[in-house]
Amino acid sequence: MLPKRTLSIAPMLDWTDRHYRYMARQITQNTWLYTEMINAGAIIHGDPNRFLLKDECENPVALQLGGSEPEQLAQAAAKVAQFGYDEINLNCGCPSPRVQKGAFGACLMNEVALVADCLNAMQAAAPDCAITIKHRIGLDKQTEYQPLADFVGELAQRTNCRTFIVHARNAWLDGLSPKENRDIPPLRYDFVYQLKQDFPHLEIIINGGIKTNHEIAEHLQHVDGVMVGREAYHNPMLMQSWDTQFYGSTQPEISHAQLIERLHQYATAQLATHRGTILRHMARHYLGLMHGLHGARAWRRILSDADLLKPNNPDLLWQAWAEVQRECE
Ligand SMILES: Cc1cc2nc3c(=O)[nH]c(=O)nc-3n(C[C@H](O)[C@H](O)[C@H](O)COP(=O)(O)O)c2cc1C
Repeated sequence: MLPKRTLSIAPMLDWTDRHYRYMARQITQNTWLYTEMINAGAIIHGDPNRFLLKDECENPVALQLGGSEPEQLAQAAAKVAQFGYDEINLNCGCPSPRVQKGAFGACLMNEVALVADCLNAMQAAAPDCAITIKHRIGLDKQTEYQPLADFVGELAQRTNCRTFIVHARNAWLDGLSPKENRDIPPLRYDFVYQLKQDFPHLEIIINGGIKTNHEIAEHLQHVDGVMVGREAYHNPMLMQSWDTQFYGSTQPEISHAQLIERLHQYATAQLATHRGTILRHMARHYLGLMHGLHGARAWRRILSDADLLKPNNPDLLWQAWAEVQRECE
């Protein structure tokens, strides 16, 4: 049985690739992981190994699709299912102009009937995967709750989608960069709490600006799950206590030293596949691992030094760790 979506790591383009997800899975066994958004067209026409390859240990893992053509999404979903993903998530929250041009992402919140068709087509093509959606609380300067409730209510009626991941701020489609769109529109956690009240039978996951385990625990009083993005990337050891604190696990938490041992093994194996992976592809995701420790700066310096990374020797991880330990003494 799969664990609940009490906690999940947000889909983040260029960040939650398979190397990051492998590291996250070593730190927490139960948390759901999400891939970066992958365009449905890229899966159909591109090299599926490039976009869909994952490690078996990653499950429970969801792949996020971008697209707005039901037929295309269905074709992509069928391929995704073959690669062993547990869930396929439709992106209805990305405000980037590139995505708007393709008429998907956040602007789909204006087209609920089309979104329903997309979700239904995905579900028919991948019957064994959970089909879920990630969206915002609204578009542009809209400030009412009702359009959000109508969007969720209609999808719940027209589709089998029962899991709604809600980034608790609007997407402003004009005038803000994607980065600004993650910070400037105000957070309205109360809207997401209200959704759970109004649709108690749906699984409502809250996302946006959540940084500490204390905050997570607070949100879990109101909704079914919490999705964490940037903080889990910049400070991955935040996840160290999640299994014990939020999933009731009695397994010991992984230590920094144990984690580095596993990452060393992983990097060695990846480099040996000769699939084009280089040490930098992996090490860039490890930079935040020592967050809060004395040696954090030395760790980051060593693992981002192009000259040191170039020989592709995983022992660089040991070297950086030794430096951290020296500074912590
Ligand atoms: C670098 C980066 C890339 C992102 N890419 C995606 C994406 O591909 N799909 C998506 O739904 N959201 C994407 N997001 C948004 C996050 O999933 C999340 O909704 C947002 O960062 C708010 O959560 P946080 O405050 O915990 O980071 C991205 C965020 C960042 C920082």
